[in-house]
Amino acid sequence: MRSFTVQAGGGLALTTDRPVADPSAGEVRVAVRATSLNARDRLIIAGKYSVDVGGRVPLSDGSGVVEAVGDGVSRFRVGDRVLGAFHPTWLYGPYPGWKGLRGTHRDGWLRDYVVLDQQSLVPVPDSLSFEEAATLPCAALTAWSAVEGVGPGDTLLVQGSGGVSVFALQFARLAGARVLATTSEAGKAERLRALGASGIVNYKETPHWGARVRELTDGGATRVLEIGGAGTLTQSIEAVAHGGQIALVGNLAPGEGMDVHRFFRRAATLRSISVGSRSELERMTEAIARSGLRPVIDRVFPFEQAPEAVAHFESGTYIGKVVISH
Ligand SMILES: NC(=O)c1ccc[n+]([C@@H]2O[C@H](COP(=O)([O-])OP(=O)(O)OC[C@H]3O[C@@H](n4cnc5c(N)ncnc54)[C@H](OP(=O)(O)O)[C@@H]3O)[C@@H](O)[C@H]2O)c1
Repeated sequence: MRSFTVQAGGGLALTTDRPVADPSAGEVRVAVRATSLNARDRLIIAGKYSVDVGGRVPLSDGSGVVEAVGDGVSRFRVGDRVLGAFHPTWLYGPYPGWKGLRGTHRDGWLRDYVVLDQQSLVPVPDSLSFEEAATLPCAALTAWSAVEGVGPGDTLLVQGSGGVSVFALQFARLAGARVLATTSEAGKAERLRALGASGIVNYKETPHWGARVRELTDGGATRVLEIGGAGTLTQSIEAVAHGGQIALVGNLAPGEGMDVHRFFRRAATLRSISVGSRSELERMTEAIARSGLRPVIDRVFPFEQAPEAVAHFESGTYIGKVVISH
């Protein structure tokens, strides 16, 4: 089968002679139909991740068709459409910590076939294509976890127009909340407005955007999706309403972290997110199917152009998700 692996020192190499494995008891073999890129994949493919990924098949997020099942498999049958859970062993309950993640600690989805435990898969709703389904395991579930409990009385602030932020915007609009967004580009601002953001602040033109968010919200955003981390927390604390909540998702922007005194004065909550469990992934995919939500896909690349997909993702010119069709 064909598979891309991370080369020592970074970059992708295509191999065509890897054997296709048979599923053992409790496992299924999936013919991969689509994968998607997440921010961490930039570091993984560049060989700069916190664990050694030389020779690994990258990508945590994929979808496909069950092609063979091992003994005792009860969750799926041959022909079922499935997508993978980001945390393969976190089925439900409190977060157990990182274990066996695909694309880093074990091989990921950027290949023709993958054999995995039946427990680490969920069904793809009929309403979604394989390409759309492949956007859900990491970015969508992270957004779903971060906006938990958001409702009509809330104003959510999202940072930027990447995968997690766009899903959070969509989920919050579905829940009846008002959404504000920061972005660095006028063209992306228009797209975010079309998706339902009622206020946009350009964080490059307005570096102290927290104060602008307070003006636009008459007292601050009740919820903030924190993408920049150390480089943006000070502005998020300025932007959040008294008693509001900041969901710490990313750490993209270099900086000094938070001003503890200012944070005290807000009486806000800071909650860190680690994607979500399989049971939450199931709840989310059902909600997406019922609501008719469509993931925002910037561009789909064919499998053999995976390096070009990565280059497009690195360019930062996209909005939402970048997908690879197998
Ligand atoms: N904790 C978790 O469970 C979890 C899960 C998934 C992702 N993450 C993390 O969340 C972050 C976003 O992930 P993603 O996959 O959505 O990334 P992405 O698709 O690469 O999107 C990143 C976007 O963030 C915006 N951005 C970049 N630098 C910024 C800055 N200094 N201030 C404000 N916005 C900035 C940009 O938006 P504009 O182009 O519009 O300016 C960019 O498009 C990453 O740090 C990722 O590692 C964490």
